[in-house]
This record gives sequence, C-alpha cells and structure tokens, in this order.
Amino acid sequence: MLELIKKTRSYRRFDHSRKLDDAFLAELVDAARLAQSAANAQPLRYVTVNSPEYVDKIFPHLRWAGKLKDWDGPVESERPVAYIAVYGDSEAKPSSFAQVDSGIAMQNICLTAMSKGVGSCMFGSIIKNEINRILGVTDERYSLLWVIALGYPVENVVLVDNTGDLSYYRDADGNHYVPKHRHDEVLLGKF
Ligand SMILES: Cc1cc2nc3c(=O)[nH]c(=O)nc-3n(C[C@H](O)[C@H](O)[C@H](O)COP(=O)(O)O)c2cc1C
Repeated sequence: MLELIKKTRSYRRFDHSRKLDDAFLAELVDAARLAQSAANAQPLRYVTVNSPEYVDKIFPHLRWAGKLKDWDGPVESERPVAYIAVYGDSEAKPSSFAQVDSGIAMQNICLTAMSKGVGSCMFGSIIKNEINRILGVTDERYSLLWVIALGYPVENVVLVDNTGDLSYYRDADGNHYVPKHRHDEVLLGKF
C-alpha cells in the first residue's frame, strides 16, 4: 500500500491519445461513494466527464501548477482525458464535513486510479461558475468543491526530502520533483 501511495502523485501531463472507459470512471465514483464519512452523512455528489467535447470545455477553467511560473499547463497532446467534479450537497445532514469527506473520497479515487496505472491531479484552483455552467449544475443546493483530472501519465514525478523549500520544481529534462517533510520533521512524539 505504501508503494501505491508513493506512486499516487499529482500528475499534470498525460497521454491524451489513451482514453478511459466510462466503466472505469464509474468504478472511481464507487471508490469515492464507499469512503468513510463523518456521521455517515455522505454529502458528496459527482459529475464524470469523459466525452472529448466536454473534456475540452473543462480544460481552460483549471489553474495548473501555480509554483511553475514558466509553465502554462499541458500542451494539447498531454492534456487530461477525463475529469471528475466533486460537489457538496447542502441538504445532507450534516453537510458541514463535506470538505473533510471530500479529501478522503478524492484520495480513494486517486489511489484506485493509480492502482490501474491512471494518474490524477486534484484541482482546487478552478473557475467554478464556468464549470457549473458547462456541466449544467445550476441548483444552488450543490457547491462545486474540486475537480480531479485523469489520464495515463507521461511525466516522471520524483519525491525528494525537504531541504528548506517545499515548492515543487522541474529540471531541464522535465522531471517533476516534490519535496516532502522528512519523517523526523513530522513526528512530534513517539511514546
Ligand atoms: C486539495 C488540493 C488542491 C489542489 N489544487 C491544485 C490546483 O488547483 N492546481 C494544481 O496544479 N495542483 C493542485 N493540487 C496538487 C498539489 O499541488 C500537489 O498535491 C502538491 O504539489 C504535492 O504534490 P503531490 O500531490 O505529487 O504530492 C492540489 C492538491 C490538493 C490536495
């Protein structure tokens, strides 16, 4: 499991020619809907986007890799092939834990995807009103929380130990490095 967690990175460049089955997206929604949920309120709803027409429409409304100042996001041939939009349902009782629940549900999606070789990236920096308009979600009952981009990765993402700056970066060959706190930095105590 730890190996799968290590592989489940944020991928931002994909093979745009390798599509995903609708059935696979349905499996990812199942991974999310079966997640733990505070008070078992299950306040999350999903929209899957797999048709090329809609995939193209969503792309301009995501903000890619804010730390990579000289990169505007993937070129056409490396764009995601599918998305899952994650919504909170304000009528769930209670709905107040939707943010926490959504983190767990999204990680279930990303782990399940990676277990089949499919990469993902969670997006919080999104143009919500545009995405809602495209997806036809107009009922204020549902608030768009996140979008997950999906596809077969074509980039190498490398975990490195924190050396003082947690900003991710790329080298001249396009390898993407993600600094993580070391074990001794996160462990406040051990009894
Ligand atoms: C809740 C959440 C929101 C994120 N939003 C974005 C985003 O809007 N755009 C983006 O390029 N990456 C986004 N990311 C990806 C993070 O930048 C990424 O997790 C971080 O750089 C660490 O890399 P890793 O996921 O490979 O460990 C988000 C990640 C999380 C968990």
